[in-house]
Amino acid sequence: MDAISICGGNTLCGEVKIQGSKNGTLPLLAASVLIKGKTVLENCPRITDVDHMIKLLEYAGCKITRNNRSVEIDASHISQTDFPKEHTGVMRSSIMLLGAMLGRAGEIRTFYPGGCVIGERPIDMHMEALSQMGVEFTDSDSEVLAHAKDLHGGKVKLSFPSVGATENVILTAVLAEGVTQIEGCAREPEIVELCTFLNKAGAKIEGAGESRIRITGVKKLQEICYRIMPDRIVAGTYLLAGVMTKGIVVLNKAPVDQMQELFRVLQLMGADIVIAGDWVCINGEHACKSIPALKTSVYPGFPTDLQSAFMAAFSIAEGCTIIEENIFENRFKIVSELSKMGADVRICDNRAMICGVDSLKGCTVEAMELRGGAALVLAGLAASGTTLVENKHFIDRGYEDIGRDLRALGANIRYV
Ligand code: EPZ
Repeated sequence: MDAISICGGNTLCGEVKIQGSKNGTLPLLAASVLIKGKTVLENCPRITDVDHMIKLLEYAGCKITRNNRSVEIDASHISQTDFPKEHTGVMRSSIMLLGAMLGRAGEIRTFYPGGCVIGERPIDMHMEALSQMGVEFTDSDSEVLAHAKDLHGGKVKLSFPSVGATENVILTAVLAEGVTQIEGCAREPEIVELCTFLNKAGAKIEGAGESRIRITGVKKLQEICYRIMPDRIVAGTYLLAGVMTKGIVVLNKAPVDQMQELFRVLQLMGADIVIAGDWVCINGEHACKSIPALKTSVYPGFPTDLQSAFMAAFSIAEGCTIIEENIFENRFKIVSELSKMGADVRICDNRAMICGVDSLKGCTVEAMELRGGAALVLAGLAASGTTLVENKHFIDRGYEDIGRDLRALGANIRYV
């Protein structure tokens, strides 16, 4: 079953627990390679990107034991630094193994799948930064060969606060000789999570969450057990489900501190939000209003990963909204699918103008990537009639079980 059928029109009302963060988990799985022993990750989401990353770690020689959402990685013996195409092509997080394998073994040969539907996804910043630390690259079309005779700390300046590049520099630096200073690094919660995890294992990292991070190399990291933070993008998706159906949604275990910008925009759209600790209640009864503009930005600005979901919401809002996508160059893929449902969206360069219609009409639409797929499911919740979202496997990369979660909120949704 690789499709989701949604019978639209239900007003959602219910409570759902938020899964562990995909973008928090993937770098921690890579980081476990730096620990010559056992790492236990709790609250690890059951998603296919995690499955793929675990396969890569097993291929490298790690022994993995999974028990529900607890994953034990024994990286005592790394026997492989050469990752063939058939293993790395399925997802881009394999590039996070770059820093981890350089930090552990001083070398890696991997394949980089290159562009995807949302953008070119180059790794020039990763390579430029790691070259400052003694890493030499030979890359031919999609093969990346990296090795460092003597890995050493260095001064790194990122021209853009790339999340992945920041993560790879940190992973390379924690066991390298000397001090590494990163200027202009990403400030996303995933960076703080990675630094908190590594410091708990004995690394010396200062400045996590700021745009300057300093890492003093250490000889060895200790075995640790670590609980992964909740997923702010999944949390934002489900809040929007409440807004789009004018319902009342309660989130349990939401990463509230990471969602301030989301709350601000949702309130401008007419939603009422009550927060108590890691519990959030949203009332969409008086939503969904358009806002003049929504611009995606690096953290703590509005997250690009929720841009498609908000586009779906604005497609049924009163009035017009202009969305500006400033992170990825091709992240309006769902416009064609929303238009099939009757949405009024016009694109000009990195801007889309969405003028709300009274109601979307259910029909068959195609998910082409993870976050766009989730946005189409949200559109189906609000549409009249039945919507069939094909290519569910894209959504499974980042959502444990979107049908289970939305059914808990009262949606009429099933896999077909
Ligand atoms: C991470 O991707 C996330 N993925 C993305 O989430 C997220 O959208 C993105 O950060 C921004 O927050 C994971 O954490 C696994 P970037 P990443 O490097 O690291 C360009 C999802 O749906 N760039 O910050 O790849 C790049 O092309 C995914 O969960 C270069 O030009 O993002 C993009 O336009 C989608 N050269 C921009 O920077 C480089 O060397 C931001 O990329 C690196 C990046």
